[in-house]
Amino acid sequence: MYQTQVKPASDQVLREASRLLHAGELVAFPTETVYGLGANALNKDAVLSIFAAKGRPADNPLIVHIWDPAQLEDLCTIPDGASLLMERFWPGPLTILMPRKETIPLEVTAGLPTVAIRMPSHPVAASLLKACGLPIAAPSANRSGKPSPTSAHYVFQDMDGRIPLIIDGGPCDVGVESTVIDLTHGTPTILRPGGITREMLESVLGRVDVAGSVLRPLQKGEKALSPGMRYKHYSPDGQVTLVEGEESAVIRALSVLCHDAQEKGYRACVMCFTEHLTQLADCTPHDIGSIHDPSATAQCLFDTLRHLDDEKMDVIFSEVVPTTGVGLAVMNRLGRAAAFRTVSAEAVLSER
Ligand code: TXA
Ligand code: MG
Repeated sequence: MYQTQVKPASDQVLREASRLLHAGELVAFPTETVYGLGANALNKDAVLSIFAAKGRPADNPLIVHIWDPAQLEDLCTIPDGASLLMERFWPGPLTILMPRKETIPLEVTAGLPTVAIRMPSHPVAASLLKACGLPIAAPSANRSGKPSPTSAHYVFQDMDGRIPLIIDGGPCDVGVESTVIDLTHGTPTILRPGGITREMLESVLGRVDVAGSVLRPLQKGEKALSPGMRYKHYSPDGQVTLVEGEESAVIRALSVLCHDAQEKGYRACVMCFTEHLTQLADCTPHDIGSIHDPSATAQCLFDTLRHLDDEKMDVIFSEVVPTTGVGLAVMNRLGRAAAFRTVSAEAVLSER
């Protein structure tokens, strides 16, 4: 059991964090996407303790964080197209799969021949990586199955007693985890959508595919390209249902569904765009940002999902966003939070 400390980033705290990482301990730190739970990527025992602290299945590989592409030389080989992406999008929320070298313990890659690498742009993450001089393996700093934490408060909620130190760098900008791209199997393929969008990647690489399981559950017998896709993820305790359709029909359907559930005795609420808060004022509305700004929805999504648990909501009905730009990342996370349960607003209203 640790006495978990939460400390705002400072030179002294970075030195302390660096000491802990060299000693094989875990440190949670902010990145521009979500908070990470870091360990020395070259220390297999330290890496194994990440899995223990998170309650993460051992077959779900970790992302290795670096501060300088020169570090890649020791860690992996660089696939075609990767240099272009690194020049354009690093530092930033893009993770690239690269064939691993022997220095990377198999515990990091869960036995896979590739290692996922990213260079974060958050100044605290970059300073920590530089200060310790190590590649840092870091998944999101949540307990497995919980939404990724976008503030130190939520890291503490999940990791209290499990790790010695959380560096507090305030709320995360992007709010959803990095885009994961695979360049090692033919056409570049997005395994997990994030802040670097398909459109941005295509502007550099030409055609980019999106793994089928990004917007639907894995089918029976289908192999997960990214092991993380196999697991139930991002789930609040309550049951989330997505409501699709024309804007005014969606607002009416959300209201009908929410009131029906409340009448049955459930704690029910809606997740809706800022523009619809007034119309849904009696449905305990949770604001998911402007209908015109999917990056605002991305930024607040995990926080909102965590609030639903804090408020012990049983049933939640949510609006959806178009799957273009950052909307693809939003719908990937929201879809999973809802176990892909979706209803049409028009169908709900016609049953009345
Ligand atoms: O933004 C992020 O990427 C955050 C911050 C902390 O950097 N990290 C993060 O890590 O989200 P994690 O472990 O929660 O998600 C890593 C994802 C998982 O879905 C995992 O299966 C996939 O990347 N992954 C890692 N290595 C892989 C590999 N070699 N092949 C395929 N997928 C891989
Ligand atoms: Mg995660």
